[in-house]
Amino acid sequence: MARRLRGIMDAMSTGENGRSRKVLVTGAAGYIGSHTCVVLLEAGWDVVGVDNFDNSSPVALERVAELAGRPIDFVEADLRDSAAIDAIFAEHDVDAVIHFAGLKAVGQSVAEPLLYHDTNVGSTISLLGAMTRAGVFDLVFSSSCTVYGSPDVDAMPLIESSPTNAVSPYGRTKLFIEEMLQDVAATDQPWRVLSLRYFNPVGAHPSGRIGEDPVGIPNNLMPYAMQVAVGVREELSVFGGDYPTPDGTCIRDYIHVVDVAEGHLAALDALDTVEGFEPINLGTGVGSSVLEVVAAAGRAVGTPVAHRIVDRRPGDAVTVYADPAAALQRLGWKATRDLDDICVDHWRWQQKNPNGYR
Ligand code: NAD
Ligand code: UFG
Repeated sequence: MARRLRGIMDAMSTGENGRSRKVLVTGAAGYIGSHTCVVLLEAGWDVVGVDNFDNSSPVALERVAELAGRPIDFVEADLRDSAAIDAIFAEHDVDAVIHFAGLKAVGQSVAEPLLYHDTNVGSTISLLGAMTRAGVFDLVFSSSCTVYGSPDVDAMPLIESSPTNAVSPYGRTKLFIEEMLQDVAATDQPWRVLSLRYFNPVGAHPSGRIGEDPVGIPNNLMPYAMQVAVGVREELSVFGGDYPTPDGTCIRDYIHVVDVAEGHLAALDALDTVEGFEPINLGTGVGSSVLEVVAAAGRAVGTPVAHRIVDRRPGDAVTVYADPAAALQRLGWKATRDLDDICVDHWRWQQKNPNGYR
């Protein structure tokens, strides 16, 4: 039904002459999901979100509606509950799905691999089954540059056909899911799947109302640095100062979360041009070292972020950044915000919400 209506819907300007197009967003209350919901609602998409709040708060959804000035439909459910997901498709005329829901902590995935395979792979199997039963075949999936493993520096920038090689259970769930998506896309069902491989999403909505709210001690650089700046933590440990990079610290492609969110809007619009399965990098193409991030965070905060160089963290790749050309060519999208924008916005969120949503 949803699919048959698609041609008619495409001809309509969104929000006028009848209903808007509707997207189901899994993991809607999470960090990237919440920012994407704001962008989608602002662009005229109707949104129904689903989340089990395993790593998020209902407050994020209240703030999404507040920022967008529009309501968001929401169902609290675990994606592995097939009956609950079937019920969402029965109640809502869904045109497309953006699938964020999953677990993402690399270290936890090493300790609890079955939890990661069950949650990430299991949720996706459940979702794909429900989509098939509902006749909805348009999907945007949250993948990660982790699927490229720990590539050599001379392999930069990474393109979509760069070799894949996951080095953690978390990374393997992303690779397995991508392979599963290729399998379903190769059937005679009319799947159109974009797998967006994010590099390092950071920053927050410029309002300071929504942002990343890590539980416990942050694993990642930006939230840790900002917690040091706001006084929740004493000092940032910089993992390794003797890498073969200009300042000795690792290089990553940090991308503003609102740029990532806008990439999803562009991806939904580009699904019409997709045949089967297609992976796309979402990065800026610019690599920044840990010390460059620390310096930018200090500029945003107005005072240096206390840090000390310590031993390397096992498993870190030296340098990872994207070639974003395919995203521009296929989605008409490119990142527009730089590292200073990222730090200013992340700092605003951190200052206004020193304890996150709690
Ligand atoms: P997040 O933890 O903030 O959001 C994920 C959301 O999914 C959470 O709200 C969580 O409660 C929900 N969820 C988890 N398991 C669920 C289940 N079984 N049923 C329903 N809801 C469930 O993470 P995020 O940073 O917003 O990441 C979103 C997606 O992007 C994830 O798939 C992640 O692997 C991927 N990704 C994130 C990054 C990053 O650095 N943040 C990088 C690359 C890829
Ligand atoms: N770093 C520090 N100190 C910290 C935290 C991080 O120096 O307290 C360094 C790391 O060693 C690395 C860089 O900062 O050199 C970035 O580290 P993050 O943990 O922020 O990000 P990663 O690139 O290691 O990994 C992130 C996610 C993974 C995901 C990957 C690719 O954590 O889940 O991006 O998407 F797989």
